[in-house]
Amino acid sequence: MKVTVFGVGYVGLVQGATLAQAGHEVLCIDIDKEKVKGLKKGVIPIYEPGLESLVQENYKAGRLNFSCNPEEGVKHGYLQFIAVGTPPDEDGSADLSYVLNVAQTIAQYMDESKVIVNKSTVPVGTADLVEAEIAKVLEQRFSDSEPQFSVVSNPEFLKEGAAVDDCMRPDRIVIGTKCKQSEEALRELYAPFNRNHDKIIVMDVKSAELTKYAANCMLATKISFMNEVANLAECLGADIEQVRLGIGSDPRIGYHFIYPGVGYGGSCFPKDVQALIRTAESCDFNAKVLKAVESRNVEQKNILYKKIEKHFSGNLKGKKIAIWGLAFKPNTDDMREAPSRVLMESLWNAGAIVQAYDPEAMKEAQRIYGVDEKLILCGTKEGALKGADALVIVTEWQEFRAPDFELIKENLSENVIFDGRNLYNPERVKDKAIKYYSIGRVAYT
Ligand code: UGA
Repeated sequence: MKVTVFGVGYVGLVQGATLAQAGHEVLCIDIDKEKVKGLKKGVIPIYEPGLESLVQENYKAGRLNFSCNPEEGVKHGYLQFIAVGTPPDEDGSADLSYVLNVAQTIAQYMDESKVIVNKSTVPVGTADLVEAEIAKVLEQRFSDSEPQFSVVSNPEFLKEGAAVDDCMRPDRIVIGTKCKQSEEALRELYAPFNRNHDKIIVMDVKSAELTKYAANCMLATKISFMNEVANLAECLGADIEQVRLGIGSDPRIGYHFIYPGVGYGGSCFPKDVQALIRTAESCDFNAKVLKAVESRNVEQKNILYKKIEKHFSGNLKGKKIAIWGLAFKPNTDDMREAPSRVLMESLWNAGAIVQAYDPEAMKEAQRIYGVDEKLILCGTKEGALKGADALVIVTEWQEFRAPDFELIKENLSENVIFDGRNLYNPERVKDKAIKYYSIGRVAYT
């Protein structure tokens, strides 16, 4: 099938590439000329395992193409995907201007029937707005016999770091539409990904839009709940890792997303929780649970700083702190809403210097903070330790899981680790004569 994807961000690019891989003819449109030029040369603007080769192969095979020309995009696909960003407004609600601009563009150039598919995470009711926008422009363009269209909500559930796999093997494909023809078109599109058992769930548009937020907010709730219990466990002298195993064994709770840590980050959870709170407010509904989820997360992002500050009795001026992990989670270079940023900014405010290492996010850190004497970016995890007063682990990259503790001791001026991801067995670290603070477990000092 012929598909146009507006927006080559995370969602659009991965979706476009996987659809092309399944044999569809995909044209991706973006306003960023540099990005489009790069993609045509096989340069991928983000780090995502498996994506580079997928884009390069499908581009070469002619199934995947890129362009800045919106008219060409609208003419190309019967299916028009909207996968542009919905950044938070000042008050946390989703900014829909990019989505509505694409809607206008589609309406401006379409002269035959189209199915408009909303992939961006958008507040409930956005499909109606997109539909109204398109209808308005079409009315101006055609005096009668306007081309037919319908707007479908088809939310994306991919995870950064596993995005290609999530798209190739989705656990569900939610299609929000009451239009049978559109439903059939999407069933045909997703047939290559809908094997073994039927993963397609068809519902009304608004429920599909809410499903996306509910999924992310439910996962964020699990994390904030667990972080709350972890903090309580510390007060009580209990061990959250034991508690995690104890509750996860109940299949109604499950082991997923109950890892305590330094708060959730990334481009989705913080934004989506805030957006759903705002959506609730817009219909005079007080989303009490979500507000608590958000406020626990804001506090949790400062938890490592509080421990460090207490350990050094508030005296952080001139201290060198080694940080392992800057990305908001492993297997990505994304630092959006990353807990590492909150920590570094608190450390800098207190006069400390940061020596940081991340396997993928070094360029991103430099892009955000520039060259600054308060932030020394090191090429290796060992390099970050040199002359530091403490080691802090913020992201659970695989390469941090089995470190050489002797080497850590040799390099640090004080033998102390603050572990925001509970990577080590506290007894083992204690045996190495290293002071060890983690999350929701008794500290060894
Ligand atoms: C999330 C969802 O998991 C995807 O299903 C969804 O499609 C995506 O948002 C989206 O809306 O686009 P993502 O933001 O890539 O995906 O990352 P996650 O793996 O969900 O992690 C989010 C944050 O939660 C990370 O900061 C991670 O460290 C934290 N987390 C996760 C915990 O603190 N504890 C856990 O047990 C799990």
